[in-house]
Amino acid sequence: MSTAHLTISPGRSIGPIHRRLFGSFVEHLGRCVYDGIYEPGHASADERGFRTDVLELVKELGATAIRYPGGNFVSGYRWEDGVGPVGQRPTRLDLAWHSKETNRIGLDEFARWCREADVELMLAVNLGTRGVQEAVDLLEYANLRPGTTLADARVANGTEEPHGVRMWCLGNEMDGPWQVGHRSADDYGKLAAQTARAMRMVDPNLELVACGSSSRVMPTFGAWERQVLEHCYDDVDFISCHAYYAEKSDLASFLASPADMDRFIESVVATADHVKAMKGSDKCINISFDEWNVWDIDRYHSDDVITDPQTWPVAPRLLEDSYTVADAVVVGGLLISLLKHADRVTAASLAQLVNVIAPIMTEPGGIAWKQTTFFPFATTARLARGVAIPVAVEAETYDCAHGEVNLVDAVATRDGGSGAVFLVNRSTENAVDVTVDLAGWADVKLADTTSVWDEDPHARNVLGDSERVAPRANETASLAGETLRITLPPVSWTAVQLVG
Ligand code: AHR
Repeated sequence: MSTAHLTISPGRSIGPIHRRLFGSFVEHLGRCVYDGIYEPGHASADERGFRTDVLELVKELGATAIRYPGGNFVSGYRWEDGVGPVGQRPTRLDLAWHSKETNRIGLDEFARWCREADVELMLAVNLGTRGVQEAVDLLEYANLRPGTTLADARVANGTEEPHGVRMWCLGNEMDGPWQVGHRSADDYGKLAAQTARAMRMVDPNLELVACGSSSRVMPTFGAWERQVLEHCYDDVDFISCHAYYAEKSDLASFLASPADMDRFIESVVATADHVKAMKGSDKCINISFDEWNVWDIDRYHSDDVITDPQTWPVAPRLLEDSYTVADAVVVGGLLISLLKHADRVTAASLAQLVNVIAPIMTEPGGIAWKQTTFFPFATTARLARGVAIPVAVEAETYDCAHGEVNLVDAVATRDGGSGAVFLVNRSTENAVDVTVDLAGWADVKLADTTSVWDEDPHARNVLGDSERVAPRANETASLAGETLRITLPPVSWTAVQLVG
């Protein structure tokens, strides 16, 4: 048994927690849309073909904003294909995922689904095969009141009220050679600036995201952010980060993945602030961490994809990773990392929402169920309110692929007199006895604990055994005066809810 001592200074604040921090992502990829959120003919489908069992799980997950429709998909997407009478919509090749896109679901259907799910819609525009004009056209279609041809077309298609989309991503992963329309930082930076300026001529209050690097290991990382922001600093509000982590042979390093996310965020903040200084600007660019998750990206090889476009399938089973308890502990840890940087990470999207590297899985004609990663996300989205508060951690450390890291990681949140503490134990062997000094957080009571752990860190929820892993209370937690005591099992994530 190891010990750790944590100190929370409830009077200190990292920053307000923006609700968009608990966003997610729906891409036209595999079975995320078709046979995921949408399956006409399913017993739970509503009159428009959306599965209400999935909708209920999305509400329980508590996602606040959803990025749509891609991802790599958006870089070849013609948004016009997805509006108007369904019977007249074209079927297209999706070059990104070697699939066929039927366009049965498009902007109007998805926006309506977002309203029913009570989530904000975030749109990405295609800056791969398209440009300024198409982005402005989409904005006109989506957001204008009747009186112009495209806004009138939306009304004629059945949506009187504008969709009111505030947050827009200017392309997707444009630094990646795999991206259709991949560009240099200079070319992309100029295009992002031109697109942003044109969109702001329609609506100066839009919130715009420039593409950052598609991961911290890209050879252009750092230089890409600097060059892109040199072109568009004054025209955008966010720079994006994307990161995926996977367990290879080394569980201890995998569990420390949030240390990599910490460095990623801090490097992008430093780069954005460098451009701010160069420009003598008063404006601060924040981060939209609009793709993050556990994903074994190496399992997706283009060799596995059928290459004859004549035979590309509609909505194939792609990227359907099955998540373990250890994966859930990492997802909980990545949420801690996002909260620790709540002053600069003001939007984030768990990639993705259903079936594709997702917390929610579905079987056609069958059940919808929760993966292990559902639990830390849903609990954090529910409890992390108000402001994020730093936690000083004194704990054993270990060496791993991410350097020397603490066995225990934590962050706290506070909303008035109430709040929460989120903790992980990264030890693969030992429980850790933790004392938490609440240091002046007076008159608070221990309300509840939620943990994800299992004797088998590789346990998972699968079709046929879909409730094998469930969140559980941690009965060891106690609060005496201003000292919280809790024993964290090895490979575990825990949330402690405090009420004032
Ligand atoms: O989320 C899956 C894919 O990962 C997205 O389409 C792309 O943006 C990223 O590389």
